[in-house]
Order: sequence, then structure tokens, then C-alpha cells
Amino acid sequence: MPSVSADDEWSPLRSVIVGRAAHSNFPCEPPEMIANTMPSQYLEEFRANHPFPEYISEAADAELDQLAAILEQEGVKVYRPKHVDWGKIGGYTGSMPRDGLLTVGTHIIESAYAWSCRRQEITLGFEEILHDLAQDPAVRVIRAPAPPNPDTIYDGPTGAGLEGQPWVINNSRIAFDAADFMRFGQTLLGQFSHVTNLKGVEYLQSQIPPGYTIEMLEVTNPHAMHIDTVICPLRQGLLIYCPSRVSEDALRKHKVLRDWDLRPVPFTPKPRLEPPSLTCSDWLVMNVLVVDGKKVIVDKTDTEFADWMRELGMEPIFCPLRHVNSIGGASHCATVDLVRQACN
Ligand code: ARG
Repeated sequence: MPSVSADDEWSPLRSVIVGRAAHSNFPCEPPEMIANTMPSQYLEEFRANHPFPEYISEAADAELDQLAAILEQEGVKVYRPKHVDWGKIGGYTGSMPRDGLLTVGTHIIESAYAWSCRRQEITLGFEEILHDLAQDPAVRVIRAPAPPNPDTIYDGPTGAGLEGQPWVINNSRIAFDAADFMRFGQTLLGQFSHVTNLKGVEYLQSQIPPGYTIEMLEVTNPHAMHIDTVICPLRQGLLIYCPSRVSEDALRKHKVLRDWDLRPVPFTPKPRLEPPSLTCSDWLVMNVLVVDGKKVIVDKTDTEFADWMRELGMEPIFCPLRHVNSIGGASHCATVDLVRQACN
């Protein structure tokens, strides 16, 4: 099996990256970006070199160690990034590798981040892992293209080159976050967002292995950033979705999902209050890592969601992740699938 090989989000996971959260820093981007993507109560926190409260970063780091241990117990090979002081370099975090690296078949592709505060994230935290993976001649590691200097992404006109779209970025250069895409065999489903533009999608299409195609999902979320709080496939033929962000009709337009069982999350997620939800919506409840089409990593306190998982024939494995949530995501965001055993 190559060191990188994954065609979906649910086949048995064999190898994975789990992020690290220590020394996470509030991401610093122009106010209109932060206002459009982050919860409105905490906007003043998002200033230059402002660390997350230490108790949150430290606890989140311990939660990710626990996630790594759980996955190892499940027989998964786990890679961890280097320790980085994100405050020192004006960065954000090492806890959300899903945003920065996308596995498609045997290729692993680095995001061309729209956010300039994230530009060094993969180089500083994850380069050694990429170097290791690249030792396998079957694998292609594709590093991000250099952005123009000075960067033009916020220079307007906004709308990511797509008329009528509400995005803060323009289409003047390639921009995409890996977490705006998901694998469904040879088809990738993606979304345009405040961090992914048309040039980003065209670039990604040109880098993925031959035979794979990207299709863009029609989402109804003016704050869109990352598709993993919009849809989540649990196994072949079963997908859950956030009903306020995408419709069943929009999902059915895609041939890969046409005969799938598509289930809206049947409850309004409870507010995540302690620690405060500094960066995300409560839809993180559905941001779950599937281990093998049956087992799924669920936050310890999301009992309503866990019950629903059991009804759907899944088996929740509990891991505390509330502090990770506060920094930016849950078990899906905090990981990168490297190898999932092929379905056939
Ligand atoms: N922006 C999303 C929300 O607030 C959270 C996405 C987290 N996903 C990620 N890959 N970091 O619902």
C-alpha cells in the first residue's frame, strides 16, 4: 500500500495525521474576513499575535494526544506535526491540518491558503511528514504555488470572480483550503467559500490525478468556510448534512450521491459554551472523523449526536474535543486521512 492513498472519507483508515494545538494564536486577517467567518461575539480577539488562552491551547493539545492514542489503538498509523510557537511567527495553529492538506488518491496537495497568516503552517509544522511520505515513489507531494507579492486577494472586486457571490476574497490569484473538498471515489465534492475561489478550484483540478473530477456543491451559507460542517459521509451510501447550509435537492444533483441515503441532522445543536466557541458554529457537532464506515469519533459531550449515530448503525468512539472546538474544529478538521484501504 502506498504511504498516501485515499479515495473516500469512510473506508478503513490506515494512516493519518493528527494535529497539535499548543501555542495556537488567533488568526489575524482583515476585519471583513474575520467578521464573515468567525462568531460575532469574539471579533476583537482576532488581532495580531494574540494567543488563545493558555488553558484552552493546553487542554486542546492533550485532547489531540488522546485522539492520536485512540486511533493508534484502532490500528491506525499516526503522524504528528512539529511543535511550533505560532505566536512567534504571527500564525494560527497546528491543530487543523485538514485545512492545509488534501489527499486525492496517491497525491497529497497543500492548500494555497487565502489567509496570509496561514501561509507557513504546512512548511513549519508538517514538512517533515511530507518529506517522509515523499520517500514512496508512488506518492506525489504537491506544495502550494507562491502567492503574488504583494498579495492581491483582498484588493477587490470581491466575489471570487463569481458574480453575485458574497465572498470576501477576489479571484486574482489561486486560493483554496483543502477542507472545502471531500472525496467520493473519483469525484470530489467542493464548495466555494470565503477562502476558496474559482482559480483555486481550477488549479486543484489541474493537480489531482487523471480521472478525478471536482464538482461544486451549491451551498446556502453566507459564512461558508470548510465543507465539513455542511456534509459528512459516514459510509458508502449514507451521508448526513446540515439542513440550513445545503438542500437535499442540491446534493441529489451530483451523480455520486443520487441513490444515497441523505439525512439532515435532525436537531439543532446545543451551544458550545465552555470553553467558549471562539471560532466556529455549533455545527461542529457533525464534524466527525469516520474510522472505518462503522466507528466514528464523537465528542464526549455530544450524547444526542451519539444516539443518532447508533440509530444510523454507527458506533461512536468518544474523545473529549471541546477545547479543540474552541480553536477551530473537531475530529475531522484536526486530522488528515493519508491511507484509507480501497473499497474493492
Ligand atoms: N466554519 C465552520 C463553522 O463555523 C467550521 C469549519 C471547521 N472545519 C475545519 N476544517 N476547520 O461551522
